[in-house]
Amino acid sequence: MKLVIASRNQHKVTEIKAILGKISGLEIVSLNGYAVPEIIEDQETFQGNAAKKALETAKHINETVLSDDSGLMVDALHGAPGVYSARYAGAGATSRQLCEKLLRELKNVPAARRTACFATVLVVADPRKILHTAEGKCAGLITEDMRGNNGFGYDPVFYFPPLKKTFAELSPEEKNKHSHRRRALENLLIQLKPKFSGGH
Ligand code: IMP
Repeated sequence: MKLVIASRNQHKVTEIKAILGKISGLEIVSLNGYAVPEIIEDQETFQGNAAKKALETAKHINETVLSDDSGLMVDALHGAPGVYSARYAGAGATSRQLCEKLLRELKNVPAARRTACFATVLVVADPRKILHTAEGKCAGLITEDMRGNNGFGYDPVFYFPPLKKTFAELSPEEKNKHSHRRRALENLLIQLKPKFSGGH
């Protein structure tokens, strides 16, 4: 079976290949080389956006497609920025702008109430229907200032208690071991493995 990853982000493609590559009989390819119009992420949930991206892309290229949608949910902000994570500080905002906006919004929120979680939803669809959905979450706390230079997005303000560091203070390898994307991929792997006789 061929699985096309609905992303041109090389970092994501590499991470997905590393985990799902454990399944023999599954050929994983990126979207490079396919002509697909941009799909607008206008749904109210990660699940809705990932499903829309997977189904529409699958129909365009007539293949089985894996798509993902992720974001940060902050409890004191009732789950914001959520599906608006990328646009929280305006279109094209930098990581610094996103982090600064979040820190401003949480200015008077005490440490104990700065709980948050990253979430990823992965959807596999063929041109007719959704075949699999898998979710991954990673719980943490929002810091009071930015720390670390690695990663992207909200990594400098997302403190991960098990490693006592922000995501931006972790090496890419360390982050990939614990991230919400990794957990969603492991959950998808559990669903896909039984479909492939050679899986181990
Ligand atoms: P995407 O759906 O994976 O493109 O994520 C949407 C937005 O959520 C990104 O633009 C980031 O702002 C934020 N985000 C998702 N995953 C992460 C992460 O691992 N670290 C930091 N920010 C993230």
